[in-house]
Amino acid sequence: METIDVLAICGSTREGSHNRSLLRAARRLAKAPLRVEVWDDHARIPRLDATRGRPFPPAVGALRERVAAADALLLVTPELSRGIPGQMKDLVDWLSILAPPRPLVGKPVALMSASTNRFGGVFAQLQLGDMLRRVGAEVLSDFDVAVGFAHRYLDADGVLTEEEARDDITRLWRRVLARVADDRPAVPA
Ligand SMILES: Cc1cc2nc3c(=O)[nH]c(=O)nc-3n(C[C@H](O)[C@H](O)[C@H](O)COP(=O)(O)O)c2cc1C
Repeated sequence: METIDVLAICGSTREGSHNRSLLRAARRLAKAPLRVEVWDDHARIPRLDATRGRPFPPAVGALRERVAAADALLLVTPELSRGIPGQMKDLVDWLSILAPPRPLVGKPVALMSASTNRFGGVFAQLQLGDMLRRVGAEVLSDFDVAVGFAHRYLDADGVLTEEEARDDITRLWRRVLARVADDRPAVPA
């Protein structure tokens, strides 16, 4: 089967981020034909300025093209004050601007989150999923992968010791695989 290209973005740039560790764990659990590439160029993304007619900043333009080219997106979001962090919101806004190549329209998106509290960031995931649907993306999960007490279950290398969470990740990857494979034209005989 052809490679399935997943672009993965973590919404935290914090050193020692639990969400980045979760992304690492998820990447490790992704089996061929899934290929997970991590985008981590937050520092070059400016705050949103959606002035009509103004060209996208180069890093934003590059990200929009990269997202458009990917078969699916994985967004791993922290939860701050019951919502997504500002940098994740800026990314969604930059990506949602309806100029070609309309990167989010119809894009399959898987969501994950980790937090140090019991609920694992589910409120941020719900918020993010809602926003993404609003701008035309296809959200493949509703808080299926949410790692609570992340400081206990995740280490910096992306070792996830909670078996149920590993199973949830595997289930979500299967969903991504099935969704993208469904979209591919059948190979002519
Ligand atoms: C200002 C602030 C607000 C927070 N609010 C929430 C919250 O509403 N819900 C939650 O689950 N965790 C909350 N947390 C805890 C974060 O989820 C936790 O620090 C997490 O590790 C952040 O993600 P990161 O490790 O990937 O940077 C908050 C943390 C901070 C610093």
